[in-house]
Amino acid sequence: MKKLKTKKIKFSKISEKLFDPKANKGDNHLAEITHFLQSDTEEKNFSKKPLKNYLNGLTETIAAEDYYQYDLDIKWDIPFPPPLSPKFEFIDLFAGIGGFRLAMQKLGGKCVFTSEWDREAQKTYRANFGEVPFGDITQKETKDSIPKGFDVLCAGFPCQAFSIAGKRAGFKDTRGTLFFDVAEIIKKHKPKAIFLENVKGLRNHDKGNTLKTILSVLRNDLGYFVPEPQILNAKDFGVPQNRERIFIVGFRKDLKITGFTYPKPIKEKKIFLDIREKDPVATRYYLSTQYLKTLKDHKARHANKGNGFGYEMIPDDGTANAVVCGGMGRERNLVFDHRITNFTPETKIKGMVNREGVRKMTPREWARLQGFPDDFKIVVADASAYKQFGNSVAVPAIQATASKILSLLK
Ligand SMILES: C[S@@+](CC[C@H](N)C(=O)[O-])C[C@H]1O[C@@H](n2cnc3c(N)ncnc32)[C@H](O)[C@@H]1O
Repeated sequence: MKKLKTKKIKFSKISEKLFDPKANKGDNHLAEITHFLQSDTEEKNFSKKPLKNYLNGLTETIAAEDYYQYDLDIKWDIPFPPPLSPKFEFIDLFAGIGGFRLAMQKLGGKCVFTSEWDREAQKTYRANFGEVPFGDITQKETKDSIPKGFDVLCAGFPCQAFSIAGKRAGFKDTRGTLFFDVAEIIKKHKPKAIFLENVKGLRNHDKGNTLKTILSVLRNDLGYFVPEPQILNAKDFGVPQNRERIFIVGFRKDLKITGFTYPKPIKEKKIFLDIREKDPVATRYYLSTQYLKTLKDHKARHANKGNGFGYEMIPDDGTANAVVCGGMGRERNLVFDHRITNFTPETKIKGMVNREGVRKMTPREWARLQGFPDDFKIVVADASAYKQFGNSVAVPAIQATASKILSLLK
């Protein structure tokens, strides 16, 4: 392609216009544009057409034709820009807010395709990575946007993915599940390696048959070397969170990789105080006197029933329970924090803040429990942020495993 003079332009300048709701023309519109901006060769699938249409309205800011040059020099003023000299390429499926992406980028990888249909998660993703994920991965047109030739497929597919129960013959019988979509993408693109993450419960789902089917599809139908999956705990990789997840890795058979060792726990153990917010947090994170009483009463009533209901107090030197979205998710990790500064007579008298200093962890603390660095932007309301971090992966455990995968690919 003919090169025009390159023009240095800040991504924030483009994104001001790009992310104006009026400019959004449908589902994958922004995904196509932002993927195009980050793709650097003509081989990529992303069409220039939506970009061209879009940019026609913007010519007063930037000359539209500049964008058609693959050497356009964008200054990526976002926290996690694409690497300048990538060592490998990966795709990020069921991307959430990009836990996999953070880990893979840190290891020198370039994300060439991402899919996540939740709008709020997409907001967080684009604020941090400058890219809007494509939507529903079960749709043909979404799958058709995946470029050829990437090295690693990453997918933390949702646990609702399994209704394989009863039929367990192979690939076709997983149809209708999200695993089927992952398998279809593997079949078409044959990446060198695959890296899947899921809830620990996958191991015993349908008496172990679901996992058996998944492994059989990967090994027998798709031709991958897949070592025995392993359960890793986030707390063994430098975050104070007791979160066990199943990790499944695989290598294309022609690479002749015949062994894989999962990462060993690191020595350094973290405690809640290591990730506590530095400054006192807003009163909204403190429980009201009434709510705390309700929780205590409820717990007392259920104490002997052994159903594990209720809040839990995490000591300063303790490890948090797994952060999860929904239900009593936030109450499972209550802490004492007496540093409250705006404990005004009003908040005290009205009982808006309990006197014991019991509060929930903040979204930033949840981010840290999952190993997200502090420059990771939280741009959504608290309720969405908790959901997003609860849904996400523990980045350090992912990174440690990915690093083992990559060492074999070299
Ligand atoms: C368990 S979460 C994975 C989170 C991600 N690994 C992270 O680090 O944030 C699964 C995600 O899959 C998304 N999802 C579910 N079905 C989808 C579909 N058909 N197409 C695209 N995304 C989907 C959900 O919105 C959810 O965010």
